[in-house]
Amino acid sequence: MDKLIITGPCRLSGTVTISKAKNAYLPILAGVLLSDKKIVLNEVPNLRDINTMLTLLGNLGVGITRNGKTITFDPSTLSSHEATYDLVKTMRASIFTLGPILTRMKKAKVSLPGGCAIGTRPIDLHLSNLEKMGAKITLEGGYVYAETDGPLKGANLLLAFPSVGATENLMMAAVFAEGKTVIENAALEPEIDDLANFLNAMGAKVSGIGSTRLEIEGVKTLNEVEYTAIGDRIEAATYIMAALATGSNVKVEGFNPAHLEFVIDLLKEMGAKINIGDNFVEISESSLNSARIDTAPFPGFPTDVQAQMMALVTQVKGNTIITEHIFENRFMHVPELNRLGASIELRGNSAFIDGGHPLKGAPVMCTDLRASAALVIAALASEGKTEIDRVYHLDRGYENLDQKFKKLGANIERIGN
Ligand code: EPZ
Repeated sequence: MDKLIITGPCRLSGTVTISKAKNAYLPILAGVLLSDKKIVLNEVPNLRDINTMLTLLGNLGVGITRNGKTITFDPSTLSSHEATYDLVKTMRASIFTLGPILTRMKKAKVSLPGGCAIGTRPIDLHLSNLEKMGAKITLEGGYVYAETDGPLKGANLLLAFPSVGATENLMMAAVFAEGKTVIENAALEPEIDDLANFLNAMGAKVSGIGSTRLEIEGVKTLNEVEYTAIGDRIEAATYIMAALATGSNVKVEGFNPAHLEFVIDLLKEMGAKINIGDNFVEISESSLNSARIDTAPFPGFPTDVQAQMMALVTQVKGNTIITEHIFENRFMHVPELNRLGASIELRGNSAFIDGGHPLKGAPVMCTDLRASAALVIAALASEGKTEIDRVYHLDRGYENLDQKFKKLGANIERIGN
């Protein structure tokens, strides 16, 4: 398993270019299954999760031609309706293929995703609402079996929680449904808008984009499309927090700052010097005050930035409280950060960080994707050498992380063993 060796503290400088968003391209790749026409996707990031989804599409019979980061799909050869456990267990986003396969092939067999490090990750909202659209759903042997006699039926759906994945799965299932589907209390994350824009570019009829009420008029066919996803706001937040944690001046470009409005506003309230451009932010060395942070669905503070924020506030004098409201087990980075000398105490779903004490390098271990990013940020701010093990977690969602940080001046090496 590869490791990262970081020797801090690192002062960073220069510009980092953000890749296109993992959490936009994963549902868009599932959406490829809806079409029988050529699709070209540009600047697809080289990430483990993306490659897993590409393997899944290939196994389903989709023709795939990669030319660097431009990928051409021929979904007319789709031949299977089964997403098997061996792939789904490695990436729960595979469940996004359920809606597209079902609405296109009238039947689907998709492995239950199972839990992951950060929580049980149920899919009840996906399944109960597909049933409202006329799907017959049975669970057996760890698989979801879904089928429908004819087209799915448009329905009025109300999500008990603004689930990102359920919103995406149901939006895609509605593309070929008969009549109109309404999704109330839809998630508002920017990646939802990006998926809707992709579907409409293919000729789907999604309206209400950017609102909690989505309306999808069923269509019969889709057309060819070429598409490029939005920049990855979570990757951008990671580099912003690394810059602030190391007292650096860094330009983070290639994403829409409006997609991080809450985070940027909060950091500025804490004292961060941030200049905002159309597709970049410029971070200047800042002295920050502690804060009270609660994760929430968009437009609130993203749960995917919680761990990175915690690493940052270990460098901020005073007591910061971070409460995680979305997932039930998303504090696995806490004991690892404490190994670096942080002073973090957990009480229920809140972490109490006594910040402003210097960190010292030590061997640590990645546990999940965003926890891994937190360890990188803390290691960059730590005195001495930190060895980060199991970096395959990072590879799920961060493209060329060590090279991007090295270009910013970090003392970081990736070693294989
Ligand atoms: C997406 O996961 C993201 N993944 C996650 O990013 C992100 O943390 C999450 O949205 C929240 O923003 C992708 O987009 C691939 P949810 P998803 O459905 O769709 C509960 C990362 O780091 N829930 O909005 O699984 C669930 O238990 C990953 O890139 C149900 O109860 O998130 C959780 O508590 C991690 N029943 C909450 O909703 C359901 O049927 C949020 O889940 C579905 C969800």
